[in-house]
Amino acid sequence: MTELRFFALAILGVFCMDAGQTPARAADEAPNAAAQPSRLEEPHIARQAWSFTGPFGTFDNAQLQRGYQVYKEVCSNCHSMRLLSYRNLGERSGPGFSPEAVDALAAQAEVTDGPNDNGEMYQRPARASDRFRSPFPNPEAARAANKGALPPDLSVMAKARPGGPDYIYALLTGYREPPPGFQLAPGMHYNAAFPGHQIAMPPPLSDGAVTYADGTKPTLDNYAKDVAAYLMWAAEPRLEERHQMGARVIAFLIVFAVIMLLAKRAVWARFHRRPAGAA
Ligand code: HEC
Repeated sequence: MTELRFFALAILGVFCMDAGQTPARAADEAPNAAAQPSRLEEPHIARQAWSFTGPFGTFDNAQLQRGYQVYKEVCSNCHSMRLLSYRNLGERSGPGFSPEAVDALAAQAEVTDGPNDNGEMYQRPARASDRFRSPFPNPEAARAANKGALPPDLSVMAKARPGGPDYIYALLTGYREPPPGFQLAPGMHYNAAFPGHQIAMPPPLSDGAVTYADGTKPTLDNYAKDVAAYLMWAAEPRLEERHQMGARVIAFLIVFAVIMLLAKRAVWARFHRRPAGAA
C-alpha cells in the first residue's frame, strides 16, 4: 500500500500549497522575535478570517459591494484604481452588481471625453465601459493636495504588499497615539502597521463614516474588512476561477491515481501469483 500513501501525501501537499497563498508578514510567524531584537521593530500583522482563503474560498458579493461603497465614498477622494472599469463591478465572482446598478454607479462619475466637432474636450457621465475616474489629473496634482505624499493607485495594492488584505486591514485600523518619546514629523500620523510607523495618510475611516444599506454595523472594523476584501478582489479577480480549476485538477489527480494503481496491480498480478505446486 506504499503507492496509496505516496499519492495521499502528494495530494495533501498540493492542498497545503494553495491554502498558504496569502502569507502574512514574516514577523507574524516569529514567536522567537524576542530572541532577535531587530525584528521587534517589524509591525505585527495579524491574520484575519476571509471568505476567499483556502482551496475552496470564494468572494462574498455583499461584502465586496460594501467594500466598493467604502472605496467610492472615502478612498476614491485620494486614490485612483486605474485598472478597473465600472463594468467589472458586475462580475459574478466579484461584487456582482446588476447591469442596471452598474450603469447607475458609472453615471455618478463625470469623465472627460472628446474632442467634439469643435475640437473641444467635454465632460459626460461615465459609462460601464469607462475606466474608474481618477481623483487627480496627474501625480503632481495628487502630491500637491496631499502635502507632498503620493496616494498610490489601489488597483493591485492587495498583491503589492506583503500580507495583502491582512496588511490593508491592519493599516486602516492601526492609527494610534504615538508612544512617548516617538519623534513624529509634522503632518505625519502614527500607524502601528505601517513600516516605520509614520504615514502621510490621515486616518481615513472612523465609526459611522459610511452608511451601509444592508444592516451591517457601521464600524471602523467592518469598513476596514470590507474595503480590504474589495481590494483583494480588484487585485486578483480570477481567484475563484483559480480555486475551481485547482479543485478540478485535484479531483482528476485522485481519479487518475486510482486508475494507475489498479492498472499497476493488473499488470503485476501474474508475478505475484504463487507458483503452481507450492504449498
Ligand atoms: C486624504 C487622502 C487619502 C484618503 C481619503 C485615503 N488615503 Fe490612503 N494614502 C494617502 C496617502 C497620501 C498615502 C501615502 C502615504 C505615505 O506614503 O506615507 C496613502 C497610502 C495608502 C496605502 C499604501 C500604504 C503603503 O503600504 O504604502 C494604502 C493601502 C491606502 N492608502 C489605502 C487607503 C484606503 C483603503 C482608503 C479608504 C478607506 C484610503 N487609503 C483613503 C491618502 C489618502
